[in-house]
Amino acid sequence: MTKRILTGLKPTWDQLHLWNLFGAINPFVELTKREEKSDFFLFLANMHGLTVIHDAETLKKYSLTILKLYQALGVDTSKVYIYNPADIPGHAQLNRVLSCLTIMGTMERMHSYKDALAKGKAGEVSVGTFCYPILMAADILLYDADLVPVGKDQKQHVEYARDIAGKFNRQFGETFRLPEPFIPEGSATIIGLDGRKMSKSYNNYIWLLDDEKTLLKKVRQISTDMKTVEESKNPDENNVYQIGKFFLTPEEDQARRGKFLAGGYSYKDAKDYLFEKMWAYLEPIQTRYKAISDEEVFRVLENWKKAVSGLAEAKIQDVYQKVGFRL
Ligand code: ADP
Ligand code: TRP
Repeated sequence: MTKRILTGLKPTWDQLHLWNLFGAINPFVELTKREEKSDFFLFLANMHGLTVIHDAETLKKYSLTILKLYQALGVDTSKVYIYNPADIPGHAQLNRVLSCLTIMGTMERMHSYKDALAKGKAGEVSVGTFCYPILMAADILLYDADLVPVGKDQKQHVEYARDIAGKFNRQFGETFRLPEPFIPEGSATIIGLDGRKMSKSYNNYIWLLDDEKTLLKKVRQISTDMKTVEESKNPDENNVYQIGKFFLTPEEDQARRGKFLAGGYSYKDAKDYLFEKMWAYLEPIQTRYKAISDEEVFRVLENWKKAVSGLAEAKIQDVYQKVGFRL
């Protein structure tokens, strides 16, 4: 059977950040090139975004941005299924079935709920946030995905999807493939301007659509130690070096590593070089992004809608039959 690879991003901001690029989209695009025989699914996780965004215009705007960025970042829209779950009832339908097989204790142990708890009071966390992994499992199992590229802290959610698929299969007969998480190498360590994990909570992002001036300002803000120009600097403990890694060829990276170690390389020079490399990388992405119209996005969604709906509908019919909904 053809291997299926599936992932999605939440439209919770008006653009993507570097982690989304290096930790999610780039590895996904690499997989599409490497695993030519597999089927690829890349969706808009807008039903997940609703846990945070409660304004229609904002959610629509962010959604369009994400879909345009998928294309600007090199996703081959003629090969990858790109879709909006709002067009496909199966996501919500399967969510219902899985939620009846899932016990509260399992959800209580999930990162999504624990993170929400850490930010506020238990009584204020929405039921949608509490049950977030169930909808995520529905997104995955509906299409029989084998491999799910995600960030490290989503691993637990994919493992839950696997467990609940196994539970369903044992109870009602073989129905779902068992998915596995795929954690791209190095994605666990993407740091922000201040050296902490790049995160919205810390406001330490570099955004893909930051303009030249903003980018330069941010690169200048990257925190460093107080070492003098002459002193040797340890690249592995250095934010300027770490952030820059993703934008250089292995040869350029080696050369820069040497400069950090040798001393005589100022943070100003290191930052100027980093900025130059980053802008050279991001500018063409921004140009491509700007050239994609809303109509182009709608055309791609429309193009895949029938095929994706067909797959989802077949799965739902099977599930409804097996649980006894169909009379
Ligand atoms: P945050 O709100 O912390 O920025 P998001 O919800 O936008 O995170 O990120 C979606 C997923 O991306 C996270 O659940 C995690 O898997 C991954 N992720 C986010 N930031 C990083 C990072 N700096 N390094 C590795 N993975 C990350
Ligand atoms: N939870 C994922 C994130 O926070 C987004 C997501 C929703 C997802 N459903 C999914 C990812 C299914 C992979 C598969 O980034």
